[in-house]
Amino acid sequence: MTIETLEYQSGFRNHFATEALPGALPEGQNSPQKCAYGLYAEQLTGSAFTAPRHQNLRSWLYRIRPSVVQSAYQPLENRQVHTSPLDKPAADPNQMRWDPAPLPDAPTDFIDGLLTIAVNGDAGAQSGVGVHVYTFNQDMTERFFYDADGELLIVPQLGTLLLRTEFGELDVAGGEIAVIPRGVKFQVRRASGVDAARGYICENYGQPLELPGLGPIGANGLANPRDFQSPVAAYEDLEGEFSLVAKFSGRFWTTRLDHSPLDVVAWHGNYAPYKYDLARFNTINTVSFDHPDPSIFTVLTSASDTPGMANLDFVIFPPRWMVAENTFRPPWFHRNLMSEFMGLIHGEYDAKAEGFLPGGASLHNCMSPHGPDAETFEKASNANLEPQYLGDTLAFMFESRYVYHPTEAALATEFRQRDYVDVWSTLRSHFDPNQA
Ligand SMILES: [Fe+2]
Repeated sequence: MTIETLEYQSGFRNHFATEALPGALPEGQNSPQKCAYGLYAEQLTGSAFTAPRHQNLRSWLYRIRPSVVQSAYQPLENRQVHTSPLDKPAADPNQMRWDPAPLPDAPTDFIDGLLTIAVNGDAGAQSGVGVHVYTFNQDMTERFFYDADGELLIVPQLGTLLLRTEFGELDVAGGEIAVIPRGVKFQVRRASGVDAARGYICENYGQPLELPGLGPIGANGLANPRDFQSPVAAYEDLEGEFSLVAKFSGRFWTTRLDHSPLDVVAWHGNYAPYKYDLARFNTINTVSFDHPDPSIFTVLTSASDTPGMANLDFVIFPPRWMVAENTFRPPWFHRNLMSEFMGLIHGEYDAKAEGFLPGGASLHNCMSPHGPDAETFEKASNANLEPQYLGDTLAFMFESRYVYHPTEAALATEFRQRDYVDVWSTLRSHFDPNQA
C-alpha cells in the first residue's frame, strides 16, 4: 500500500508531529512498550545528544521495520563523486567558469548523474562542503540513497523534482530549494511531465544550515521561518528487491533491502527535510547609495568554529529594485577572504554581460580578483540611474571560509570555459592625472 501526499507543515525546524494513520504517534512518550499498529520506534539524531537545546536536532520515527533490517554494506564504485580531502588536493587560484553540464543521453538516475565540481574542508572533521551538479533522465525506483557525510542542499535549475523521503514527499521546482538532512533516506524522481533534470547540490559536512541572525534588521526579513515547509508523514508498505546506497566517509556503499525504506507511518521532531521558495525571500538592500555586502542576501548559513566565519553561506541574488543614486550598481571589483562558488538558476546575473548561463557555474577562490566584465563596467559607469527592476534573475552563491579544490573531472571537462579570465582583459586604464 502506498500513501502519497504533497502536504506540508510550515516553520523552520519546528517540533512537528505528523501521522499517516490515526493514533500512530504515541501520546506523551517516545518509546512505549508496544507501538500502535505494530510499528517500531527509531530515533534519528542530527546533533550530539548533548548539543545546546537550540541546536539539538532529533526526530522519532515510527516505522514498519527498523532501519537495521538490511544486508551488509558492500562498496559501490562511483568515480564521479568526490569528498574532501581529495587524494590529490589541487586548489587553484584561477578564476573558473563552466557552461551548464550537458544532459545525459543514456538512461541515468540521480545517483549516477552526480558530478563533483569542487570540495573543501575535511568531511571527517565535519568541516567544509562538497559542490556537485546533477543531471538525470530516469527516476529512482528500486534504489534509495542517504548521505552520512553531510546534509544536502539541493538547488534545482531545470525540471521539478519529486523527493520521496522517509519523512514524506516534497516537490521542488526551479526557484525553490530543498534540504535533506544527513542520514535521511530518500529517492529522487522527476515530477510528471519532466524529461530531464539539472541542478546544483551543496553537501554540507559542517554544522547544519540555520537561519542567519538578523541583527539591526530586526525580527523580520530575509527568509522568514514560516515559509519553510516540511512534509507530512507518508509511507509505502512494499516488499521486493530494493537497494539502499549510502555515501559514507567519501565512498559509496550499497546494501540490499527486501522492502521499501519509506515505511515511516508517523514521526515527530525537529530533524526533517524541508523546502523553501526563494521567491519568498524578503530582499533588503540600499535605498540611498552604494550597496551592502552580499551577506545581506544570506538565506541559510552553516556556522564554523569561528564566530562570523561561515562554513557555508547560501546567498541568493534575487529579483529586486535597484535605486541607489550616484552608485556603480553591479557588484564591484573585489578580492575576498571567503571563497565563492556561484550558479545561475534563471535569467541574467548583473555582473556579467554574457557567458554565465543558467545551469552554469563559476568559482572565485580566496583572494582571486573578480568582478564585472568590461562591457558591464562601461554600461554601469555611464547608465542613467533611474530606478530599475531586475526581474529575470536568480543567481546564488555557496560561500565558504575554506578554499575550494576543484576536482580533476571539473578541471578537465569540456564544458569548462578555459578562457574565462579574458572577460576582464579589455578593461583599460581611464586614468588621467589632469582630470579629477
Ligand atoms: Fe564575488
